[in-house]
Amino acid sequence: MLTPVLPEAHTNDAVLHDHAELDIGLRARQACISPKFLYDTLGSRLFEAICELPEYYPTRTEAGIFDSFGGEIARTVGPGSTLIDLGAGNCAKAASLFPLLQPAQYVPVDISAEFLQDAVARLRQRFHHIEMNAVGMDFSSAGWSLPDTVRAERRLFFYPGSSIGNFTPHEAREFLQRVHAQCGPDGGILIGIDLAKEAAVLDAAYDDALGVTGAFNLNILRHVNRLLGSDFDVCQWAHRGFYNEREGRVEMHLEAKRAQRVTWPGGERSFQAGEWIHTENSYKYRQSDAVGLLEQAGFAATRVWTDPRNWFAVIHARAMFH
Ligand code: AVJ
Repeated sequence: MLTPVLPEAHTNDAVLHDHAELDIGLRARQACISPKFLYDTLGSRLFEAICELPEYYPTRTEAGIFDSFGGEIARTVGPGSTLIDLGAGNCAKAASLFPLLQPAQYVPVDISAEFLQDAVARLRQRFHHIEMNAVGMDFSSAGWSLPDTVRAERRLFFYPGSSIGNFTPHEAREFLQRVHAQCGPDGGILIGIDLAKEAAVLDAAYDDALGVTGAFNLNILRHVNRLLGSDFDVCQWAHRGFYNEREGRVEMHLEAKRAQRVTWPGGERSFQAGEWIHTENSYKYRQSDAVGLLEQAGFAATRVWTDPRNWFAVIHARAMFH
């Protein structure tokens, strides 16, 4: 069953909201565009291509951890949970773990429930014994909660791929507190977090030789042009992606190749040559800090699995209530 979301009203609200958010970001002294706008149809495909690059290790490394420690992870989690997949997309990653985790219920969550519907319809045929309830919801904004169709017991939140890295550490703690509040009896989280490492490795992962990450970053301007009605000329911008060691995060920016003016209905902005638009942060954690963050949010009994190079961590933690 799909949670209804009033298609028309939802769409109009979302368009107004996107327009206002983009307008504010582009007028700010330090211009910024939220990384959520990286994922239009082409952007999602470019991200899939990024995951194939030799330089982009996170996806492959996380998959390797599940390959190596799948049995142990499954025993820690136990069968019969309600698997809540935050940012499910095509549901492929979670589905590949069904045989291992053996959930009783699967709840893919993403901004658009419509998008989830196809993937869920296909999954139902392959896994008829798993109850499936798709939820369309923006869980990155404050105050979200799951509908009553989601069982209250044994909720296992699945948040892979180091998506948590897009939040600041402060936002990440608030987000995890919200997850904790939604856990219910015997609930927990299974999360993938990218770990801090040598700058050269991170620089290459976010500025690859083929320029796929550059295309992914620049494509945000095409998406913004469609959403906002702006006239960004993609040729006038260059990709920057690098590790900011002091801040403990990878940053992506777009740099203006020359002075220019960009206009959109109700607004405009002049950029100087060399001026940047900030498009993404991707925080990298030390293992102990990642565990600390979970504990501050009310989780305990953490178990951590990593790869031989200690580049990525898969962590399971139980929600504690006192
Ligand atoms: C999907 C947010 C985890 O931060 O590594 C990949 C996105 N950006 N290359 C990441 C991304 C540039 C990715 N996350």
